[in-house]
Amino acid sequence: MTASELDLAIRGGRLVTSSGTFEADLGISNGTIVQIGRVGAAAETMDANGLLILPGGVDTHCHLDQVEPGMGYGAESFASGGRSALAGGTTSAISFIAQFPGAPLKDIVAESHKRGQRSRIDYSFHQIITDASDEAIAAIPEIVASGVRSLKVFLTYEDAHVTDREFLRVLAAARREGAMVAVHCENYDAIGWLTEALIADGKVAPKYHAWSRPKVVEREATYRAIAFSELVDQPIQVFHVSCAEVAEEIERAQRRGLKVWGETCPQYLVLTENDMDRPGFEGAKYMCSPSPREPGDADGLWEMIRRGVIDVVSSDHSAFNTTGNPGKDMNGRDAPFRDIPNGVPGVGSRMPIVFSEGVSKGRISLEQFVQITATNPARLYGLAPRKGDIAIGADADIVFWDAERTVTITNDRLQHAVDYTPYEGLKVKGWPVATLLRGQLAMRDGEILLGEGAGEFLARAPYEMAQPTGRLAHGFDASRVRP
Ligand code: URP
Ligand code: ZN
Ligand code: ZN
Repeated sequence: MTASELDLAIRGGRLVTSSGTFEADLGISNGTIVQIGRVGAAAETMDANGLLILPGGVDTHCHLDQVEPGMGYGAESFASGGRSALAGGTTSAISFIAQFPGAPLKDIVAESHKRGQRSRIDYSFHQIITDASDEAIAAIPEIVASGVRSLKVFLTYEDAHVTDREFLRVLAAARREGAMVAVHCENYDAIGWLTEALIADGKVAPKYHAWSRPKVVEREATYRAIAFSELVDQPIQVFHVSCAEVAEEIERAQRRGLKVWGETCPQYLVLTENDMDRPGFEGAKYMCSPSPREPGDADGLWEMIRRGVIDVVSSDHSAFNTTGNPGKDMNGRDAPFRDIPNGVPGVGSRMPIVFSEGVSKGRISLEQFVQITATNPARLYGLAPRKGDIAIGADADIVFWDAERTVTITNDRLQHAVDYTPYEGLKVKGWPVATLLRGQLAMRDGEILLGEGAGEFLARAPYEMAQPTGRLAHGFDASRVRP
């Protein structure tokens, strides 16, 4: 290799960026894209004839190596989740640092970084705040300054939900530090009230999970989160929007100029509440929160994606095996739905499902696919311009994609640690055949070529999307006065 040679040239492919699709070669040096179009001599060449060249997927909602209060660590580590991500064309993910009673935040942060060192993909964290105590609020500046530039709150779940006052305190802390806030929007008390009534009435099977949290419960909490975001003047992303009715709240906020964004996930695009009505314990495999909705609801979500109201599709990969502890059956196979852990795996299946349901079925363009799976999540969480697009100076995170290949999803193909996929048997058109992480060949034909620890922590610097609008009622910034 001569001094002027590139490390790698990718020739003959059709490049898809967030703004266009065109025939061009790519030149890569030191893990970075340095040439697009006419590309010079290179030490190595990869042939991309007949393939699409896409930016590596960015999954900004992915529970890897996350401790669940009272349940220990989930089934998926950064190493196994990273394997699945690479197999499915994803090269970066944001996981979570949980807060739980009795453990100082700084210890959990340190443990999460230690676990992250085994990652096979580049990664960052959202800091979950479940108890907005004075100590937790006081710890936030240092956490954010270390590059964990987003906070997450739950408005439901027994062990995790925050009160309205706590939520305001978290929004205010984020505003002070320039961090984004992600919100799980469902009403804790409404779900608790419905759940008690359902169980008292003998309605305990997995399918009643959907009955315990109908759309209005999600819609109310979404409206409340938006109202508080406006009150504090703090940007938010509403996580895992399950239906158009909820997205309408986001659309109204966006029309009014608020910095409110929405995410959905493949489970809301292909699963329905009928999946939880499968025989025996089978329905438990499809339980996640918010609940998958009725057949037909996905059409409304696609419309919201096309309109740009929902501009991110993440996996919400949440790894509970069907059997074991923690696991879906940890409280017995006859346990009422309330006692079955929520969440479905999906980091490896996200890109193929969104491509197949979106692009192959003509619902969205190739560029929209790149935007919702890579560019927009990277921008929203401060990973751009390094991640999320094909551009000079960006990391060479690249996926070679065969748009014509038809694959039937099976659990083995996904290479995650979980013992099932809710998408078993789903036929998809469009499949990743090779993945590069910062110019290194990470996956080829399903074989994972990067070892544990190949991933880097992505410390996120201050960025515009997380900045407030400056619009405050009466011009009074309470976040500066009261934490
Ligand atoms: O059911 C879900 N979504 N489980 C994962 C945790 C969360 O709420 O994001
Ligand atoms: Zn959630
Ligand atoms: Zn989640």
